[in-house]
Amino acid sequence: MERQVALVTGASSGIGEQTALELLRRGFTVYGAARRADRMTPLVDAGGHAIAMDVTDDASVRAAVDRITAEQGRIDVLVNNAGYGSYGALEDVPIDEARRQFEVNVFGLARITQLVLPGMRARRSGTIVNISSIGGRIYEPLGAWYHSTKFAVEGLSDSLRVELEPHGIRVVVIQPGAIRTEWNGISRRSAVERSGATAYAAQARALVRALEAADRSSAATEPHVVAATIAKAATARRPRTRYATPFSAKFIVGLRRMLPDRVFDLVIHRVFAPTKADLAAGEAHSAEGRSSDGERVAA
Ligand SMILES: NC(=O)c1ccc[n+]([C@@H]2O[C@H](COP(=O)([O-])OP(=O)(O)OC[C@H]3O[C@@H](n4cnc5c(N)ncnc54)[C@H](OP(=O)(O)O)[C@@H]3O)[C@@H](O)[C@H]2O)c1
Repeated sequence: MERQVALVTGASSGIGEQTALELLRRGFTVYGAARRADRMTPLVDAGGHAIAMDVTDDASVRAAVDRITAEQGRIDVLVNNAGYGSYGALEDVPIDEARRQFEVNVFGLARITQLVLPGMRARRSGTIVNISSIGGRIYEPLGAWYHSTKFAVEGLSDSLRVELEPHGIRVVVIQPGAIRTEWNGISRRSAVERSGATAYAAQARALVRALEAADRSSAATEPHVVAATIAKAATARRPRTRYATPFSAKFIVGLRRMLPDRVFDLVIHRVFAPTKADLAAGEAHSAEGRSSDGERVAA
């Protein structure tokens, strides 16, 4: 039997890197794609292929899909994983950064999908695995843009699933919880950069503390756990529409489904409550209003 061909975006780190390696172990021919191609040597050493690609750049996405099609004749599994967390109060985040967050997390995913679909449709088979988040179901203060993108991935994937079913193509959503990768540090830094010295400073400090806590060894899950779920979804004859992983993620998504908005708000307020020290530190900035774009403060 011919080896199945997989393309994994965001394979230079975290969930994507582990997914590419896991699919390789399961017998796939694997192409990993990311901007930092030099960071994909573990994949290349294990027998995979690394492609330099920026999901926001049409030409580089097209070149990647063309190369795989030329070398392998097809792509059977597309794992849309590339993404990052852009945090900060809505008032503080420049709209250009909000657009960039959507460019990477939503339009990047859609751009690759558009280019991979003609081949899948022609063969009447294929699986698209979209990496959402529990953040595609729940929400955090100072997370408006990140959550907007993940809610968008959820809606996009539902439409796509029913749109592509008649063409023999499966669409699956993965909702990871807190996973120990570069994501957490990038998200924390963005919150501090945007809102660390504005009227939202106390909330930014509380958010950073909650994210730090989620990243600590006992709370966070290693990315290979998500990779195993993605591989399971990619190889299942009839995959579920959604996989929340690990179990704590399933619990949080279930809780959100059960609780009315105002009650869930109370849970969120409790988790992200600023301490007295946060409030005192934030006091200094409360009268300042909007920060200047890109202002950096120490984390
Ligand atoms: N970690 C978590 O707690 C968590 C929870 C829920 C969902 N997720 C989601 O899981 C996915 C993977 O994140 P991760 O946790 O593995 O974080 P990560 O370690 O930071 O990895 C993110 C990957 O995305 C790639 N990427 C970012 N911008 C890109 C661009 N413009 N073009 C191409 N690739 C780009 C990065 O590669 P380059 O920088 O080399 O391009 C990197 O390989 C993301 O969609 C994230 O939102 C993460």
